[in-house]
Amino acid sequence: MLNFLLMFISFEGIDGCGKSTQIKILSEYLISLGNKVLTIREPGGNDLSEAIRKILLSSKNVIDPITELLLFESARANLIQETIRPALDNGFIVLSDRFYDSTIAYQGYGRGINLDYITQINTIATNGLKPDLTFFLDVDIQTSKKRSNYRISDRIELSDDSFFENVIKGFHIIAVNEPERMIVINAKNDIKKTHNNILSILADKFPNIFLLS
Ligand code: TYD
Repeated sequence: MLNFLLMFISFEGIDGCGKSTQIKILSEYLISLGNKVLTIREPGGNDLSEAIRKILLSSKNVIDPITELLLFESARANLIQETIRPALDNGFIVLSDRFYDSTIAYQGYGRGINLDYITQINTIATNGLKPDLTFFLDVDIQTSKKRSNYRISDRIELSDDSFFENVIKGFHIIAVNEPERMIVINAKNDIKKTHNNILSILADKFPNIFLLS
């Protein structure tokens, strides 16, 4: 098997945008072609980071924005060192449900923490690791709410609409600033159409990903 790819792809968007579904279908497809694929989520993805996730998302906890930022970054630093780097080194394609763009969008644009601080701490936590490609699954707040209706909101999902408007704005600004890396996908479309859009962008940017097996 040809396994020379180092490929790290992140998925971003507000809650209910369909990231997890798209990651699952894409992962199954890439595996069926003979790729080694690891899917992870942030915060979380290994034991220590999942423990931090519980603290961050429990609606019982009151957490100030800087503490929140540092907890997300701690979970990230650990996940990269323990899980993502080793997987990339072993030839896995890594699909990540969120990465540092979520921190820029949620803690920066949403909570209002200085963006330069966030960029600096992202660089420290990631040790310079950047996604090769990021899909921003773009949905409006109404669609997101409709899709998330069936489950109880976590601490961050309890934020008001203006918070999420700012988060969406943040993701769009990142996409404008880094158009080669962050691709905006209209995620109001049905699951199959969104999946096909993702595949055609991948085929365009990284044709080798489809050549394995
Ligand atoms: P997610 O796993 O997408 O939630 P769910 O599984 O409930 O859909 O993300 C958890 C929450 O954490 C989400 O509201 C976004 C938030 N978050 C941040 O605020 N900053 C970050 O850096 C990350 C990674 C997530």
